[in-house]
Amino acid sequence: MANSSQTRVWLITGSSTGFGRTLAEAVLDQGETVVLTARKPQQVEDLTAKFPGRTLAGRLDVTNPTEVREVVKQAIATFGRIDVLVNNAGYGTLGAIEEVSDEDIRRQFDTNVFGALDLTRAVLPHLRQQRSGHIINFSSVGGFVSFPGSGIYCSTKFALEGISEALAQEVAPFGIKVIIVEPGAFRTDFSGRSLVVSDTQIADYEPVIGQYRQWVQDIDGQQQGDPKKAASAIIQAVNSENPPLRLTLGADAVNAIDAKLKSVKAELDAWRQVAVDTAFEGVTVSAIGG
Ligand SMILES: NC(=O)c1ccc[n+]([C@@H]2O[C@H](COP(=O)([O-])OP(=O)(O)OC[C@H]3O[C@@H](n4cnc5c(N)ncnc54)[C@H](OP(=O)(O)O)[C@@H]3O)[C@@H](O)[C@H]2O)c1
Repeated sequence: MANSSQTRVWLITGSSTGFGRTLAEAVLDQGETVVLTARKPQQVEDLTAKFPGRTLAGRLDVTNPTEVREVVKQAIATFGRIDVLVNNAGYGTLGAIEEVSDEDIRRQFDTNVFGALDLTRAVLPHLRQQRSGHIINFSSVGGFVSFPGSGIYCSTKFALEGISEALAQEVAPFGIKVIIVEPGAFRTDFSGRSLVVSDTQIADYEPVIGQYRQWVQDIDGQQQGDPKKAASAIIQAVNSENPPLRLTLGADAVNAIDAKLKSVKAELDAWRQVAVDTAFEGVTVSAIGG
């Protein structure tokens, strides 16, 4: 973390609306510094005008490697450091696995996975050199539980969780902390203008995912989760001596994860003997990684 005479420098992707913007506002309100990044930087100009000297607006489409490098360079050139990287930019794709086009699948992974990965790898050398910092990766309840109709989106968040879980252990010796944020349904543009609905809808899947497909769109503007409260929870976690690896947000997310943990445990127990009986005879079982 920055020393007490400095404010921490946050770099937030997708600062135009939703969680990214709300978190940026909360961080700025408490006197810290933010590199606000957006595909259209004019969307954050009101914040750079309101908080001069503690803000920098950067153009960043996370799928553009040149922009990724440029924004990190600008942040370091302007403020000398980055303390908190927030990989927030992302969106959801709705449709059964068979329905979503190849192009939409690749764009979903390019944004939610490769974008966050690229930025993380661009910022890590600075955090390692500082021997401090936080990386906040926006996953979802869908990064722990996959839902029929959101399988492509959930798979990107599962990927991000896999990366984050390993990364947290790789960088812990350097004083860098990784937090995976797993929101349930929060009132942002997620279910509205940002949502990609597959063009193809196959009649066979209608009884399976039809109701869910409708629900995801109908909750736009009605979601129970308040992004301002999510921002407070994230700041509380960043300020904590021992931040959680997973910060689940929303009772809906907590309930879904509880249910999954119970079902995974029940299945593991039911098939435990079959699982452990697969070793070569006489071999001593060791832990993964030795
Ligand atoms: N809201 C929820 O219920 C919920 C639940 C779980 C997880 N999440 C996660 O929360 C994160 C933020 O979403 P949100 O809910 O705040 O929705 P949002 O209001 O739609 O915000 C999404 C943000 O991501 C940006 N973005 C999308 N693609 C981008 C790209 N290629 N490069 C740079 N920025 C890009 C958008 O920029 P533009 O303005 O240019 O489109 C926007 O700033 C996402 O990762 C999402 O998966 C949301």
